[in-house]
Amino acid sequence: MTELELLGFGDAPIAASAFGNSNDPPLLLLPGSGQSRRVWDDAGRALAAAGRYAVSLDLRAPPGPDAQPYDLDTHVRDLSAILARFSSRPVLVGASLGGWIAMAALGEGEPDLASALVLVDSPPQIDIAAARDHGAITEDIGGDSMTMEQIAERLLAAAARIRQPALIVRGAQSRLSTPESMAQLAAVMRDPELAEIEGAGHLAAAEQSEVFNALLLEFLERRVPREPPEYLQGSDSGTLRDALGCFATGVTVVTTVDERGEPVGLTANSFTSVSLDPELLLVCLAKSASSLPAFQAADRFAVNVLHIGQQPVSNRFASRGADKFADTDVEQWEGEVPILKGSLASFECDKFAMHDGGDHEILIGRVRRVRYEPQRDPLLYFRGKYRRLHFA
Ligand SMILES: Cc1cc2nc3c(=O)[nH]c(=O)nc-3n(C[C@H](O)[C@H](O)[C@H](O)COP(=O)(O)O)c2cc1C
Repeated sequence: MTELELLGFGDAPIAASAFGNSNDPPLLLLPGSGQSRRVWDDAGRALAAAGRYAVSLDLRAPPGPDAQPYDLDTHVRDLSAILARFSSRPVLVGASLGGWIAMAALGEGEPDLASALVLVDSPPQIDIAAARDHGAITEDIGGDSMTMEQIAERLLAAAARIRQPALIVRGAQSRLSTPESMAQLAAVMRDPELAEIEGAGHLAAAEQSEVFNALLLEFLERRVPREPPEYLQGSDSGTLRDALGCFATGVTVVTTVDERGEPVGLTANSFTSVSLDPELLLVCLAKSASSLPAFQAADRFAVNVLHIGQQPVSNRFASRGADKFADTDVEQWEGEVPILKGSLASFECDKFAMHDGGDHEILIGRVRRVRYEPQRDPLLYFRGKYRRLHFA
């Protein structure tokens, strides 16, 4: 076991323990209210022995004994910040309040940041009086300005947006959950499995740790199998293209005018910055592109970097023979080449050089003028698909 310090929301330090090899498929384990990450020590060791990498967290603690506990939102922001820094998508395991945090972080944020969800006695609707009696849930939940009904409504709405496989575990003797409350949760989720642990109450994972660990490992083997990294290799052009597709790029439309003064353009992701002094950039144009002769003849061209809303523009300029400019708003600057209005960034260039590049021509431009919009997200391209950025 190794002790770690993770960074939560606003870079707040979050104490964590790691079990196993960090190259193995990861899990993040969240405790319930009033518990520490130590409740997962047993599970952490069992997971490491089964070839998994388990990281258990403490929840952010109030600054002093009399301080108001943090509300659900603060914990959700912490988890989202931690998830955003994970190198591969972990399975989220949450007990009680930890399960609520996991549900909200996935369902309200980026659902794709985890590969599966395991909820341990974490029903959206709890009997708060029974919870206090039980001592497992303290006044912490009162740190939230929401009523129990509002929390339940919020969590069910979040759970309904979760697409990953989910294991919903109940302690058969729990006084905080009922079979009905678990069935209600399962009913809104996309891919749930229900399990009950006999002889265990609300703290089922700790009270019957062997049974719980076996249940968890069996679920993982079935639903999130350990796949050793698989490296594909070869020297054929298909493998080369796929390997190059691992380099994520933005998407541009390169434009110019042909000898008749007609606008010409094509989608290109081979755009690269070259030099700041002089100000040079390049783009590689296929020798088979029907617009190549126009770029060969032209003295000027423009590169337009597309934003996330311009996927249709990318498709239009990637189809040969389409009337690409019919539905495209363009303007001209001094260089009199078409600039796509509203692009994330546009670079107007003088042709600096054109070099042979095998089945492509390498077109180098000297930038005359740039314009960019600092707020919008870029359209991305990775492994043959459009992608978008996601932030915590
Ligand atoms: C995301 C994406 C990136 C592309 N990048 C390039 C590129 O860098 N260079 C290129 O010549 N073609 C690239 N293409 C393909 C051209 O856009 C496509 O062949 C287009 O039909 C060429 O138009 P044209 O034949 O009318 O000139 C890309 C297409 C897509 C969808």
